[in-house]
Amino acid sequence: MVNIALPKGRLGEKAYALMAAAGYPCPGVMDNGRKLIFEDEALGVRYYWVKPSDVAVYVERGAADIGIVGSDVLLEQRSDVYELLDLGIGACRLAVAAPVDFVEDPAATLRVATKYLVVARQYYAQRSRRIDVIYLNGSVELAPIVGLSDVIVDIVETGATLKENNLEPRETIAQVSARLIVNKSAMKFLGDAITGIRTGLIKELKKDAACV
Ligand code: PRP
Repeated sequence: MVNIALPKGRLGEKAYALMAAAGYPCPGVMDNGRKLIFEDEALGVRYYWVKPSDVAVYVERGAADIGIVGSDVLLEQRSDVYELLDLGIGACRLAVAAPVDFVEDPAATLRVATKYLVVARQYYAQRSRRIDVIYLNGSVELAPIVGLSDVIVDIVETGATLKENNLEPRETIAQVSARLIVNKSAMKFLGDAITGIRTGLIKELKKDAACV
């Protein structure tokens, strides 16, 4: 049995659709209930629905053998897992954004609101920029509007949230997309099964690319 952690929400639904098309469907996964584990004994797969930011934790610690997770989560958590494949879905970027009229004073400490503490600290450390980092769990765009921070470090997908809040992207930190990750021991013990899944996904991605 290969245990697969999927991120709850839109990305997870796309990820599961890809897994199903690649030959690993499982009855009930897309039902709108509260169940968190689904299993197809014949195919040898068991799916877990977990919070997007928890996928790599399950995989790193071996509670799941593989998982599908945004590369932003991997950057932030520095997860000790193998990254097998860029699935291309969930494409967005990690960026610094600020109010459209914000003029940075390079001499002052920059107040940065974000849920990406590690990413933000590393990004500004590389630029020898003094920052005061403020951890928020969500709706980060509000922080500079109400004076809690000068800028934010957050995900930008369509840019609509920034625009509607009178903010603009200033710097791109990293491009982001969903990755297939694997637990390091599972790669040894379940290598054939995991390679089979990876090959199935690659074939499916090529089909999709051919359709574009
Ligand atoms: C994410 C992200 C931005 C928004 C970007 O938030 O944190 O707020 O999506 O998308 P856009 O560029 O297409 O507008 P999410 O909806 O996950 O909620 P959150 O604010 O609670 O993190």
